[in-house]
Amino acid sequence: MKQGRVSQTALKVAISFLTLNQKDDWAKRLPDGLVEMSERLLLASGSPGYNPSIMRLAKKRWMIHLYRVQDLMMPGQFEGFGHRKIFVQGQVEAAIEHGARQVLVLGAGFDTLCLRLAPLYPHVQFFEVDHPATSAAKAKGIDLEGQPANMRQIAVDLGEQPLSKVMSQEERWEQSVPSLLVAEGLFQYLTDEEVRGLLVEAAACSAPSSRFVFTHSVPRYNKLIVLLTALIAERWKYGVNSADLPEYVSGTGWKIISDVDDDPAHGVERYAVAERR
Ligand SMILES: C[S@@+](CC[C@H](N)C(=O)[O-])C[C@H]1O[C@@H](n2cnc3c(N)ncnc32)[C@H](O)[C@@H]1O
Repeated sequence: MKQGRVSQTALKVAISFLTLNQKDDWAKRLPDGLVEMSERLLLASGSPGYNPSIMRLAKKRWMIHLYRVQDLMMPGQFEGFGHRKIFVQGQVEAAIEHGARQVLVLGAGFDTLCLRLAPLYPHVQFFEVDHPATSAAKAKGIDLEGQPANMRQIAVDLGEQPLSKVMSQEERWEQSVPSLLVAEGLFQYLTDEEVRGLLVEAAACSAPSSRFVFTHSVPRYNKLIVLLTALIAERWKYGVNSADLPEYVSGTGWKIISDVDDDPAHGVERYAVAERR
C-alpha cells in the first residue's frame, strides 16, 4: 500500500454498504446504524470522490448491477461483505457476553463496529488499529460522531511495529484481560510471514481464552485479484484454505475453534475464529 495514502479498499468496502442496503432484504439484515454511519464517515474523511453526489449514486438500485460485474471477478464478494459484518458483530457480542472486556480491531478501515458498540458496552474498552493515513481520515468522522470515552484509535503500520509493543504502550490495554481481536479483510495485504508474525504478536499481548476473529482470502481466487488489487496499489499477498488453517496457525499461540468455512456466500474471503491457548 502506498505510504501516506488512505486505503482505497477500506473506502470501497464502506461505500458498498450503501448499495447493498438497497438489495433484497439487506436493509433489515445489516447491523443497525452501520449504513448511515458508514456514509457519514466517508463524507467526513474528505477522500477525493467521496462526496454527497457519489453517496446519492451509491444508493441507486441500479448500482447493484455494477457490483454484479465485480462479482464476476470476485464471486459473492458484494453480499459477502454484509455477511461478514453480521458474523463479526455476532462474535463480538457473544464474546462480550462471555466476559471479554477488550475489543481490538486490526486494519479497521472505515468499519463502524467499535463506534456503534462502544456506547452500548461502557464496561468494554474498544481499540482500532490502522495505517496513519487511514486512521487520520477516519478520525475526522469520529470527531463529528463524538469519540466514545471507551474507544481509542491507534495509528500504526503493523508491518513496521510489532503489535505487542504497540499495545504495551496503550495505557488502557490490559494484557491479562480476556479480549476479542478482529482482523477483517486485513491478512491478504500481508505476506504469510507477516500474518504468522502478527498472530504471534497478538498472542503475546492477549490473555488465555481470548479470541481472534479473522477473514482470510482463498488461494484459488488469487491470481486475478492480485492483478486487480495491484492496480490500486493494495496488492493481495497471501491466501490460505480454510481446511489448512489449523496447521497454518499452529505454533502461533492460537488454535482454530471454528468449522471449515467453505460457504461461497462469503465471497473470496472466508471466516475463522481462533482461541488463545
Ligand atoms: C480491505 S480494508 C478492510 C477495512 C475493514 N476492516 C473492513 O472490513 O471494513 C483493509 C484495511 O487494512 C489496513 N491495513 C493494511 N495493511 C496494514 C498494516 N500493515 N498496518 C495497519 N493497517 C493495515 C488498511 O489501511 C485498510 O484499512
